[in-house]
Amino acid sequence: MTTHIVAIDQGTTSTRAVVVDRAGRIVSVGQHPHEQIFPQAGWVEHDPLEIWTNTQEVIGQALGKASLTRHDVAAIGITNQRETAVIWERATGKPVYNAIVWQDTRTQDAVDALAAEDEGGVRRFAGITGLPLATYFSATKIGWILDNVEGARARAEAGELAFGTIDTWLLWNLTGGPDGGVHATDVTNASRTLLLDLATLDWSDELLAAFRVPRALLPEVRSSSEVYGVARSSSLLREVPVAGILGDQQAATFGQAAFEAGASKNTYGTGNFLIVNTGENIVHSDAGLLTTVAYRLGDEPARYALEGSVAVSGSLVQWLRDNLGLLSTSAEVETLAASVPDNGGAYIVPAFSGLFAPYWRPDARGAIVGLTRFITKAHLARAALEATAFQTREVLDVAQEEAPAPITELRVDGGMTANELLMQFQADITGLPVVRPEIIETTALGAAYAAGLAVGFWSSRDELTSLWQEGRRWEPQMPADERERRLRVWKKAVTRTLDWVDL
Ligand code: G3P
Repeated sequence: MTTHIVAIDQGTTSTRAVVVDRAGRIVSVGQHPHEQIFPQAGWVEHDPLEIWTNTQEVIGQALGKASLTRHDVAAIGITNQRETAVIWERATGKPVYNAIVWQDTRTQDAVDALAAEDEGGVRRFAGITGLPLATYFSATKIGWILDNVEGARARAEAGELAFGTIDTWLLWNLTGGPDGGVHATDVTNASRTLLLDLATLDWSDELLAAFRVPRALLPEVRSSSEVYGVARSSSLLREVPVAGILGDQQAATFGQAAFEAGASKNTYGTGNFLIVNTGENIVHSDAGLLTTVAYRLGDEPARYALEGSVAVSGSLVQWLRDNLGLLSTSAEVETLAASVPDNGGAYIVPAFSGLFAPYWRPDARGAIVGLTRFITKAHLARAALEATAFQTREVLDVAQEEAPAPITELRVDGGMTANELLMQFQADITGLPVVRPEIIETTALGAAYAAGLAVGFWSSRDELTSLWQEGRRWEPQMPADERERRLRVWKKAVTRTLDWVDL
């Protein structure tokens, strides 16, 4: 009898394979980082072939550490960095260009031109897709590749090329040889392309025309939990069904057992993503939240969500480490930050890809403000952590207005939730208890859950809910007037980043 599920978590900076047992415990993890390619300012690329090689390697690592073989594995789940766009040749499986990553802003001119054509401006497609026009989503990245790689547009129209977000790229490679596997995506990933109609859950002809994307390029849109195909004969997991796909933030929501309307979670990764489940209702935001698909199990109706996306949180710590050399490891940020009682008046607003929610200001660029001779690298480390907490507070304020029920505690997950100083500050600056589950790997867990439900490894969402356990809780301690004073200064710092790029 099979005893485990393998979840592949393909994130912005690394690829992980996580083995999960029937009790929802993490048994082993394989992990491998991949190169971040920055060809010029604002451009961010990944090598899709490197990502596929790493995926196979981490599956081997995880199985090896747990002393398991494919015979022990009931299903494979995939979760992934969303929006990142890959286009490859159907005949050879060879990408025609690197993956253009969600943080990449090279298509700002295309976004501006589309916004200028219609009185709806950047909201012109929000009614169909739930998203504003922004470089963040896949559609203009696809357009860029078709217009800039020689012959690509004609070949796409002739059906010779395939597009996918990273889930689709991995599914294609997992289920077939180089000459082709299953070409499909799930509704959550599709909902991040700017090409999906949220109500019909199919590609929208109006959007395909507006973005000049040939339908022949696109994968089939499937649910988040069903058997898409089986792993190919040459793989370590051959014949094991691939049975779950969720974009990473939706996976974390699922892994937190936030299945019903009103449930929410905040994930601390490269960026920060607050998701509030709105059930079967498509709720449009007036205040900068995205409307997105939360999940769809087989033929059931889809569940939707509101999302507050913050582009830079954990990656600010990496920037302090790699670009400024202030830290030798990311973990050091906590000790350094804890060596001073406060930020000394310094604030960092990491608008590296402009500002995402709730501002959606592509013209913003990062700023460090409040500098005096007194400021040390310890204050900057503290300001970097605080930036994550302030950005979450701003997104939470908007979510409180539009969520189906008040958010009374913040359920958190992701790597940075190991940082106690940040978690206490997060509770202080939101005025809400911050609750971390026993297992913070909720992204991998969510993908495992979706795959396990499809093959009957777990019976129901109720069973999964019973696996969720509280690990740690932080209560707010900061007086309310101090909290609001600091928020005022933060908001002032944000104003310093705006209108920076002359668009
Ligand atoms: O939308 C981008 C998001 O999916 C990236 O997640 O975990 O790589 O920061 P992460």
